[in-house]
Amino acid sequence: MGAPVIILGVTGSIAAYKAADIASQLVKGGAKVYVVMTQHACDFITPLTMQTLSRNPVVTSAQDAQTNWKPGHIDLADRATLLLIAPATANVIAELAHGLAGNPLTEIALATRAPLLIAPAMNGKMWEHPATQANVSLLKTRGAEFVGPEAGILACGYEGLGRLATVAEIAIRALEKCGASATVRRAEKPLREKKRE
Ligand SMILES: Cc1cc2nc3c(=O)[nH]c(=O)nc-3n(C[C@H](O)[C@H](O)[C@H](O)COP(=O)(O)O)c2cc1C
Repeated sequence: MGAPVIILGVTGSIAAYKAADIASQLVKGGAKVYVVMTQHACDFITPLTMQTLSRNPVVTSAQDAQTNWKPGHIDLADRATLLLIAPATANVIAELAHGLAGNPLTEIALATRAPLLIAPAMNGKMWEHPATQANVSLLKTRGAEFVGPEAGILACGYEGLGRLATVAEIAIRALEKCGASATVRRAEKPLREKKRE
């Protein structure tokens, strides 16, 4: 079996800068990583950073996805072993729950049959809102899995449940879901040690 193909969706959260480290850990874990960013994600981190760390071109618009006769994002959707969205905004969770396809990331989410792993990050009140919770439940009934969010001090100044899970936790879950557990275990120790520093 070849290397797993992970599509890393990045959305417009203040935690988007952590997606750079996630991409790097996934590459080190042996995955081929293709990053798809929403327009709002590009306000928080540059496609250039994500391209360099993922070692692949980044999709931010339908134009980026047009490389040959088959739209690139549909080709990616077909090849994916896993669709990981980290960080996932309240907005993208709502879009995914309701099957909206207004950008390449949500189009891929509809087109792929790969499992979906979502790492939410948002203000605690946004996370606890009944609309968000209903969207999360709906996605879970369709088989989507979630990693986090965690409790802690949030970027908005509040304390609560809404922090992005740690980079290590997200990378390990993603790689395990791709059947890359041997590589994950090797990566686990240094990642955890790094977290304690
Ligand atoms: C500074 C700043 C930080 C934000 N952080 C978050 C966040 O962590 N989580 C979230 O759900 N929305 C956050 N938002 C709001 C989203 O950017 C907004 O809902 C946007 O429409 C999301 O678009 P996307 O889901 O297409 O990326 C933030 C907005 C700003 C201005």
